[in-house]
Amino acid sequence: MERTLCIIKPDGLQNDHAGEIINRIEREDFRIIGMKKSRLSRHAAEHFYAVHKERVFFNDLVNYMTSGPVILIALERENAVSHWRTVIGATDPAEADAGTIRKLHGVNKEKNTVHGSDSPENGMIEISVFFSEQELIEQR
Ligand code: CMP
Repeated sequence: MERTLCIIKPDGLQNDHAGEIINRIEREDFRIIGMKKSRLSRHAAEHFYAVHKERVFFNDLVNYMTSGPVILIALERENAVSHWRTVIGATDPAEADAGTIRKLHGVNKEKNTVHGSDSPENGMIEISVFFSEQELIEQR
């Protein structure tokens, strides 16, 4: 079993897509092992996206991710990282495959509705940033 972190970004909540995304998570046979609504602090967003801190879009990305609430979801499944990345589609919604969450709901590269971890190692790290061990419950 592998874990990945899903974040339903501010545009996903603002545009009322959270229920549909959670339904998709269930249909794709992920197990939801943790879930919470949160408003990221600037410090938390800067830390979470630290790998992008030299990129021109970093400041806008942090501003955006702190602009409204998000839903953090810890997911478990076989091949969770690659499967979730296939379900969400490419970073740029315009380039995402048909039927992916970003193609269906994404606005642009910044407002792209959902996050997914990029490796199993980062999946574990990202989940541990937002969830304590006690908050992760494996059974359905
Ligand atoms: P996410 O999967 O959350 O991880 C990094 C985020 O940076 C990515 O989704 C995008 O929202 C954002 N991002 C990546 N490239 C760009 C870009 N060129 N312009 C704006 N935002 C970007």
